[in-house]
Amino acid sequence: MRWLVVVFIGLCLVLIIGCAKKETELVFAVGGAPNEVDYWETLIREFEARTNYKVKLLRQPTDTDQRRQTLVISLKAKKSNPDVFLMDVAWVAQFAASGWLLPLDELVKRDNFDMSALFTPVIRQVDIYKGENIIAFPVYIDCGLLYYRKDLLARYREPVPETWEEALSSAEKIQKAERKNNPQFYGFVWQGAQYEGLVCNLVEFITAFGGRIVDEKGAITLNRPENVKAVQFMKDLIHTYKVSPPNTFTEMKEEEVRMFFENGNALFERNWPYAWKLHESEQSPVKGKVGITVLPKAEGGRHSAALGGWHIGISRYSDNQEQAWELVRFILSYDVQKKLALNLGWNPGRKDIYDDPEVKQKIPHVGVLKRAFQNTVARPPVPSYTQLSEIIQKYVNSAIAGKIPPSTALQQAQKQIESTLKAYNE
Ligand code: GLC
Repeated sequence: MRWLVVVFIGLCLVLIIGCAKKETELVFAVGGAPNEVDYWETLIREFEARTNYKVKLLRQPTDTDQRRQTLVISLKAKKSNPDVFLMDVAWVAQFAASGWLLPLDELVKRDNFDMSALFTPVIRQVDIYKGENIIAFPVYIDCGLLYYRKDLLARYREPVPETWEEALSSAEKIQKAERKNNPQFYGFVWQGAQYEGLVCNLVEFITAFGGRIVDEKGAITLNRPENVKAVQFMKDLIHTYKVSPPNTFTEMKEEEVRMFFENGNALFERNWPYAWKLHESEQSPVKGKVGITVLPKAEGGRHSAALGGWHIGISRYSDNQEQAWELVRFILSYDVQKKLALNLGWNPGRKDIYDDPEVKQKIPHVGVLKRAFQNTVARPPVPSYTQLSEIIQKYVNSAIAGKIPPSTALQQAQKQIESTLKAYNE
C-alpha cells in the first residue's frame, strides 16, 4: 500500500512539473556594456507584467565576436533557445544566409506592423535578405564619434579638431602639460585590440585619409596607398607620437577605452554613442566636461563614422514564435525606443523618436549625431564578413603593434581575403 502512495505522489509531481514547464518561457539573448544588460532586465520585467510570458535574459559579454560565437553554437545545433536575439549589423547577413532567422513578412502583414516608423534605408540595406524577406529590424544604430574634454581644450586654448593634424597637435601639447600632474594621461584613446572594433576604427581612419575598403564594383581592395597611410598613422599614434597608450593594440576595446577617458586620463576618445550617458552619469569624474563631435578628417579624405548597430531577429528554431514576435514589437514600440534613447543614449532604430521634445532636450548632441550619420561608412555586408574581418583584424593589429610594416600587412590581408572569397564563391 505504502509504495502505491509513493508512486501516486511521484506521478503527481511529474505531472505538475510537466505542466509548469509548458508555461511559455522566452529566452532573449543580449549583451553589451554591463549597464546596458542591466537595463534590459528592467524592460523585460515590464514586458512580463504586460503579458503572461516569462522571459529569461541570456546575458552575453560586451565583445561582439563573443556574442556571435555563443549564438552560433546554439543555432548550428538547431536549439530552440534563445528565441530572440540581438545581432550586430556586421553579422546579420551571415545569419540570414545560414537560414537561422525566421522570415517576418507574414507576421508584419498580418498585424499591419508599421515599418515606416523605422529607418527604412537601414532596413533595406541590412534587414531584407536578398531583397525579398524581412529577417530583422534595427533596435539601434551606432556611429563612431569623437569625445573630447571641453574643459581641457578651453584651458589650453585649443580648438575642437576638424582634422587629424589639429587633433594630434592638441593631443601632444595637452598630454605633455597634463603629465606633470597625471603621469597616466594620454592624448587619444581608441579601439586597437584584435577584435571587430578594430575594423570599425580602421574603416574610419581609412576614410579620413581618402581610402576605402570596397571599390566601385564592390570588390574588397585593401591594399591602396591611402589605406597604407591610414594604418601608418594608427601605428604612429602609439609608437611615434606616443599619444595613444601602448596597450592600445593589446587591450583597448569599447569599455577599456570608455573607462580610461571617464577616469580623466585622456583628452580625446573614439567611441560609440552609448559612452555619453555613462560619461555624464553622477559617479563619472568627467561629468559636465565632455563634448562630442564627428571624427576628424585628414588631407584628401573626409569625416567618417563606422556604421554599427544592433538588429533584432527571431530564431527559426524557436518554439515560441508568436510570443517572440510580441517581444520584438514591444522592443520596437515608441515607448521602449524612447526609453532606450533616454536611459542608454542609444540612437533608436525608430525615426520618430528623434522629434520627441523630451529626447531633443535631454540629448543635446542630436545635431552632432545627425552629422555623424551623414558620414557613415558600412562594413561589407557579405555572408563571409566574419572571415574577412578576422583576417583584417589579425594583420592590422600586427601592423599597429609594430610587428609588420603596414604595406606588408595590407598586401597579405588582401591575398588571404581573395582566397577566402573564392572559397565562399562571393
Ligand atoms: C558596436 C557596434 C557594432 C560593432 C561593435 C564593434 O557594438 O554597434 O556594430 O561591430 O561595436 O566592437
